[in-house]
Amino acid sequence: MPFSQPLHVLLIEDNLSDAELIRELLSEATVDTKSAQIYIEQEETLLGGVRRYSENEGMFDIILLDLALPDSQGLETFTKLMERASYIPIIVLTGLDDVDLAVETVRRGAQDYLVKGHHDGDTLLRAIRYAVERKQAQEALKRAHDELEQKVQERTHELQEEIEEHKVTEGELRATTDDLQELTEELREKAEELIRSNKELEQFAYIASHDLQEPLRTVTSSLGLLESRYKGKLGEEADTFIGYAVDGAKHMHQLIRDLLAYSRVTSRGEAFKPVHCEGVVHHVIDNLKVAIEEGGATITLPKQPLPMVMGDKMQLIQLFQNLIGNAIKFRSKRPPEVQISVERAAGCNEYLFSVRDNGIGMDMQYADKVFTLFQRLHTLEQYSGTGVGLALCKKIVERHGGEIWVESELGKGSTFYFTIPHIGRSELPV
Ligand SMILES: Nc1ncnc2c1ncn2[C@@H]1O[C@H](COP(=O)(O)OP(=O)(O)O)[C@@H](O)[C@H]1O
Ligand SMILES: [Mg+2]
Repeated sequence: MPFSQPLHVLLIEDNLSDAELIRELLSEATVDTKSAQIYIEQEETLLGGVRRYSENEGMFDIILLDLALPDSQGLETFTKLMERASYIPIIVLTGLDDVDLAVETVRRGAQDYLVKGHHDGDTLLRAIRYAVERKQAQEALKRAHDELEQKVQERTHELQEEIEEHKVTEGELRATTDDLQELTEELREKAEELIRSNKELEQFAYIASHDLQEPLRTVTSSLGLLESRYKGKLGEEADTFIGYAVDGAKHMHQLIRDLLAYSRVTSRGEAFKPVHCEGVVHHVIDNLKVAIEEGGATITLPKQPLPMVMGDKMQLIQLFQNLIGNAIKFRSKRPPEVQISVERAAGCNEYLFSVRDNGIGMDMQYADKVFTLFQRLHTLEQYSGTGVGLALCKKIVERHGGEIWVESELGKGSTFYFTIPHIGRSELPV
């Protein structure tokens, strides 16, 4: 508060001559009073003072308080006033014999104490001015402190909430991680189990096919003898039965051969070498010459020669032969048109081969099933076969680090796709 502003003083003093003296002193004061006016209101009791202060809140700048009043004495006078008027500076007026008491009031929040009769106007006014200033500064500080405290509390609260939230997500995360670990463990166990059972199956397939070959040979040769020696001699019915037996033996022979080939994909696979797929496909076309001619099939290859891949040549021949063979075998009434293509998608480190036909096609619900061992969608009477071919293809492609699948539509045709990782351009030309 600038010193030039008017000053409103509430004087609580029952001794009229003391009050008069203060009025006089203040009116005589010369410091900083150029333009400032001093208004003094007086009350003679504590109760009166408190009432006056409460009724005129904000009007007074300072209270001058005598401790010895008719309705209150000593320290109590100050503490009672403080309870009601804590925001306004209070200066305690005291006699010489009460200085200790006055000091105690300062300790409890009075801005100052003045010993009556020991001051001139200037020191009195200065004390008042400083008390007002000090109280204002204290209040401002207190406000700032309160604001700060409020902010700290708010921020603490926010932080606590954040921590709580964090705890929740952390908990969730931990639960998910645990689940994942469990799942991974389960998967690992399943994979191990699968490898074990695959190995067992391979072993079984190999032993079974190998051991079955011997008795089958006996059956076949005996049947051959039976046929050549007794055909036409035992009656028509016997000929038919012998025919069935011969067909059965042939089919079994084929089954065993296919199963053996299947079991040998991993156990007897050759080390990978650069293989020219163009050569492989021509080799297959040559192998399938009879079927191609019989079916009136056309096989189309891309204008660019097919690429080289790292692989097992014999297995790649088996792969293409099964796919092209199927494309011819599962033909519709249309003459078979088989189209072989390859794509090398930019940024992709594998070739995508496809074998497309215009044959009978299949319902896509069986698209996965056809790649399992012995799974056929047709009877032997409709189409010959053992149901091993596509399972063999899958095993070969997977051994080469690729994938195989089919897209098909019943009555329209099928396209078998498979991928094979390519060798870097730097190693071999495409
Ligand atoms: N190109 C194709 N078009 C239609 N169906 C096919 C084709 N290739 C395979 N299939 C179906 O998938 C089954 C499994 O094929 P595969 O394993 O080669 O056995 P197989 O040729 O001995 O019958 C076939 O019996 C046939 O039903
Ligand atoms: Mg087949």
